[in-house]
Amino acid sequence: MNIAVIGSGYVGLVTGVCLAEIGHKVICVDNNLEKIRALKQGRVPIYEPGLSDLMKKLRSRKRLFFSTSVREATRKSDVIFIAVGTPSKKNGEADLTYVENVARQIAAHMDSYKLIVEKSTVPADTGKRIERTIRLNLSRRLSQKIEFDVASNPEFLREGTAIEDFMKPDRVVIGVESKRAEKLLREMYKPLKTKLVITNINSAEIIKHASNSFLATKISFINAVSQICNRVGADVLKVAEGMGYDKRIGRSFLDAGIGYGGSCFPKDVDAFIRLSEKAGYDFRLLKEVRSANEQQKDTFVKLIEDKLWIIKDKVIGVLGLAFKKDTDDIRNAPALGIIFDLQAEGAKIRAYDPKAMANARQVMKKVTFCKDSYQVARGCDCLLLITEWDEFRRLDFRKVRSLMRQAIIFDGRNLYDPRVMEKAGFEYYGIGRSLG
Ligand code: UGA
Repeated sequence: MNIAVIGSGYVGLVTGVCLAEIGHKVICVDNNLEKIRALKQGRVPIYEPGLSDLMKKLRSRKRLFFSTSVREATRKSDVIFIAVGTPSKKNGEADLTYVENVARQIAAHMDSYKLIVEKSTVPADTGKRIERTIRLNLSRRLSQKIEFDVASNPEFLREGTAIEDFMKPDRVVIGVESKRAEKLLREMYKPLKTKLVITNINSAEIIKHASNSFLATKISFINAVSQICNRVGADVLKVAEGMGYDKRIGRSFLDAGIGYGGSCFPKDVDAFIRLSEKAGYDFRLLKEVRSANEQQKDTFVKLIEDKLWIIKDKVIGVLGLAFKKDTDDIRNAPALGIIFDLQAEGAKIRAYDPKAMANARQVMKKVTFCKDSYQVARGCDCLLLITEWDEFRRLDFRKVRSLMRQAIIFDGRNLYDPRVMEKAGFEYYGIGRSLG
């Protein structure tokens, strides 16, 4: 099948590469000339395990192409994905300017039947609006009728495991309003041999919002439980394990920490609250999820303030800046807020991340960026473990301790065993952990 993916950001790029991997011929489009030039030279603008190799392979097999031309992509493809950004407006609503723009451009260049598929996370009703935009723009241009369909196919890709999530999905959700669109999308995803959930466009859009919001709710729930664990001397890891064996609950997304971040959950929770408001429903539960998330970060900072006593001029080492492991993404990363808060009180920050340093340098001022964890530890009054990178599990803690001024560690991800850390001579603080 000939496919175009408009928008070569995180979602668009992974989707395009993976669709090529399952046998289709794909053109990835972006209006950023620099980005397309880099991609053509085999340079991937984001860090995503496996993506670069897969891209190279598919380029050489002539199944993956890059272009800045929506015209070329539209003419050459049967199916066109819209995967452009939907940033948040001030009121939390998704800004759909780019989506509308692309819909207009597609209409300007369509010359035969096309299936237009929205991949960006968008509020319910967007599919209908895309359909209307294309219809209006088409009729302005042409007297004869060109048929087209609009569909919704939300993505459930996690950064860091996006390729595996695409290749082995729990399900593929397809929102369609016609048999023709359904048939095309069934055929497209056939190689994946996976469960397809076929529904109308609005339901597909809500499935995406509800899924991300539910996962965010799970995280805020366990974070709230971690607060209780701290107070009553319970261990949140054991609580999550005990809950997780119940198949109705499940263990995943019950890792207490410093709150969820990234480019999706914070934005999508805001958008779902706003969408509900517009629909006349006050989604108070989700508002609580959001504020519990903020509170979790604040509590972490307060714990540091309490244990360090005076923050001014203290040297604080930060291990990990990315919003989670296996990505270089620092959008809405908890590290940012925590570092800014501590800097505001006069702390001196030393930091290291295996992949996110280049991105961090652009937004973090007055941070001493170090080449590894040991350099971070040098002269520190405490260490903060912020991102759960595997390499932080395997540190030589005897060495780390010998380099620090005070051996205190705040483990924002419950990566370490409190007993082991105490044995190694650290004063250890996790999230909702109790030595029992
Ligand atoms: C999330 C969803 O998991 C994907 O299914 C979805 O497609 C994507 O958003 C999107 O909408 O595009 P992602 O943001 O890459 O993916 O990352 P997650 O692995 O979901 O983690 C989100 C945040 O929650 C991270 O800050 C992570 O550290 C935090 N988290 C996750 C916890 O604090 N505890 C957990 O138990 C799990």
